[in-house]
Formats: sequence, C-alpha cells, structure tokens
Amino acid sequence: MKKYNDLSPSPRTIMTPGPVEVDPRVLRAMSYPILGQFDPEFTNLMNETMGMLREVFATGNEWAYPVDGTSRSGIEAVLVSLIEPGDKVLVPIYGRFGHLLVEIAKRCGAEVVTLEKEWGSVFAQEEIIAGIRAHCPALVAVVHGETSTGRLQPLDGIGAICREVDALLVVDAVATIGGVKVATDEWQIDAVMGGTQKCLSVPSGLAPVTYNARAEAKLLRRKRIERGLLTAEEAAVAAGAVGGEAYSPIRSNYLDLSQLQDYWSPARLNHHTEATTMLYALREGLRLVLEEGLEERFARHRLQESALVSGIEAMGLRLYGDPASKMPVVTCIEIPDGVDGESVRAMLLADFGIEIASSFGPLKGRIWRIGTMGYSCSKRNVLLTLGALEAVLLRHGCKLDAGAALQAAMDVYA
Ligand SMILES: Cc1ncc(COP(=O)(O)O)c(C=O)c1O
Repeated sequence: MKKYNDLSPSPRTIMTPGPVEVDPRVLRAMSYPILGQFDPEFTNLMNETMGMLREVFATGNEWAYPVDGTSRSGIEAVLVSLIEPGDKVLVPIYGRFGHLLVEIAKRCGAEVVTLEKEWGSVFAQEEIIAGIRAHCPALVAVVHGETSTGRLQPLDGIGAICREVDALLVVDAVATIGGVKVATDEWQIDAVMGGTQKCLSVPSGLAPVTYNARAEAKLLRRKRIERGLLTAEEAAVAAGAVGGEAYSPIRSNYLDLSQLQDYWSPARLNHHTEATTMLYALREGLRLVLEEGLEERFARHRLQESALVSGIEAMGLRLYGDPASKMPVVTCIEIPDGVDGESVRAMLLADFGIEIASSFGPLKGRIWRIGTMGYSCSKRNVLLTLGALEAVLLRHGCKLDAGAALQAAMDVYA
C-alpha cells in the first residue's frame, strides 16, 4: 500500500493578490470542535457574523451573510438570484473579472451589453453613467478592485443613476473588502460580493454577500421553497396555486439567495449544512478587522503599498497601468525585457519561500503582481520581498542599484 507522508506545508511569505497568509488566531479558531448547525450556540455565532459583516460592508442591510463556496459562489448566487432570463445586464469590463461577470450573467440567460476599457485603466464614472442611460439595463454588474490589472474602479456616483432607471447595482468587491473602503449604503449599491482569502485574510471557501431591500424584493418574487421543507398545510396551498408564472424561479438551488436568507433568518429553514469550521474562521477574521478598525486597516494597507512602490521604483522597475487608478492592495510591475518572469517567481519561491503572482490573458508573461493584503500586508513582508526580489533580479542579470530598494522602503517607514 502506498504510504503518504504527514502533512507538512513549507513556511511561506504569500505576497499574491490572494490567497494570503492567515492570522494565527484564525487558524486557531478553525481547530475548535464542531457545533451542530442548529445548536443555539452556533446560530448565535451565525448572528454575530452577520452583525460584523454589516460593519465591514458599511451597511444597514438586513442581509449580510456568507455563501458557502469560493468568492465566485457569492458572485454566482447574486447574479443567478437577481437576473431573470431575458433581463438586460450591463457590464463595464476593464480586466479578467469583468469578463467573469459577463460569463456568469450569460449563463443566467441575461442579454448582456458590455462597455470595454483597455486593461490597465478604469472607466470615468460618466462613461458608465452614459452606458446606463443608453441601455437602461435591469442590472449593472461591475468589479470594484480588478486584481488581474491592479486597478480600482471609482463607484460612488453610479448608484444614484441606477435608481433613476430602476436598475440594480451589483459590485464584485472580492478583492477590496477589508482593505479598501467599500461603502455599500453611501454608494447606493444594491448587492455586494466579498472574498475571504484576500484582505479579510481568512482561507478561501466562503463568500460574504450583502444586499438591500430592492434586491430582496426581486428575489422574493422568484422564491420557491423546496417541496420537502413545506409543512402539509403549506404543501396543500402550493399544490392549489393556479395561474401562470409572472416571474421565473431562481435557476440554482444551492445558490438561491431567497432560500439562503431563510436559513440565515430566525426561521432557520434548512438549506445546506453550514461549513461550521469556515464560519469560525470568518468570525475570527472579522473580529480582527473590527478590532484593528476599518480606517486604521485601510491606512495600514496604504502605508505598506507606498513602501513597496518606493522600493520597486528605486530598483528601476516600472509599474504597470494608469497610476491614478492603482489599487492600494495590488501592485503590478512590468517584467523587464529579456527577463523570464516565471523563472524569477520560481527562484523567489524556491530560495526565499516568497510567492508573488503572474497575471492572465493578455498580461500573462508581461507583469508580476504583488499583493499587500490582510495579514500578509506587513512591514516585515514588504522588506523581505523587496530584498529577495532584488537578489533574484541580480541573479537574472538585471542591472540595478543594489540596496536602493530597501533603503527607499525604509525611508517611507522612517
Ligand atoms: C476581483 C475578483 N473577483 C472574483 C474572484 C474569484 O474568486 P474565487 O477564486 O475565490 O472564486 C477573484 C479571485 O481572484 C477576484 O480577484
């Protein structure tokens, strides 16, 4: 019989745009014993998690809870629950994850119209507003922080026009929540999808979402309760219901927000079996965010970004993309001519245990992406990464002013 070794992951400094390192407190929370999903002690933890999510999403929404699955499960849950086949959906695309929104919206049966911006830049909000006025969509879906290009799309002016034309505004804040301001209510966003494995620094596997009463009204019209969960009386009423369907039912069972919210409501109507260990992790991760304070956390991310950027520029490397729209938590660097980007990444990992990322599609092989997110976003990690990158680039024959990067970063901290 084949023998498998004990699990023994190597120590790593993870400087990618996710997944990132996890605070030991979160790891510890994940080692606690399981509670049953309807145990009042556990449902109390669920309620506390909802309360903390409301704070992190900056919302008074009733609904703020995690979908079980990676971030795209939250995206898919929101889109499949809010898009009816035939609905017009507008997607402004400025990188890979805009294309993902299109892909999912199409699978939900939407008639998708897109606006496209060259990768490396973002839209002026007026351009999105003009698109909304021209197309009058039922829903607008847009990425807040596009990790593939390291760009941040301003969104504070979009919600008002969506209300004017009666469109729902849905935002992918997977990469920004907990690291960059996401003002759900102030920006009049109807549904927001977050991610755990980035600025919240919790392992991948849950997707926190929030949505307001406008969004809820749409999904409740499409609500179907599973036959096996109805009482005999409810089943009799349902069986007697006559007439055509004014609204099409939500096409996914697992990702049906109308059923998920019943599970997260005091009714606790059973849906899936909650991922209890992941909920412990998310709760602890959110507690850490709120203990630090949102504003303080955003400031920490900005400080580490400026130290990293100063070091990168002192090395003579060029940043990719329009500086005005740079995401504070992702730094994209052009790979110098003649340098094998994958070989640099491999040496960083093998010799220093440091992981940085490449990118996708048209940017594959052209840029490196360094994340400064959550628990990974620290002075120690930034200095280690700069020192190691400099050493590896020298090994790859780059001409650079040895030592300058660390001094520039240390100047920022000084
Ligand atoms: C902006 C953005 N949206 C969506 C996703 C998809 O998330 P997941 O891989 O957790 O499903 C990612 C992941 O990198 C992302 O960066």
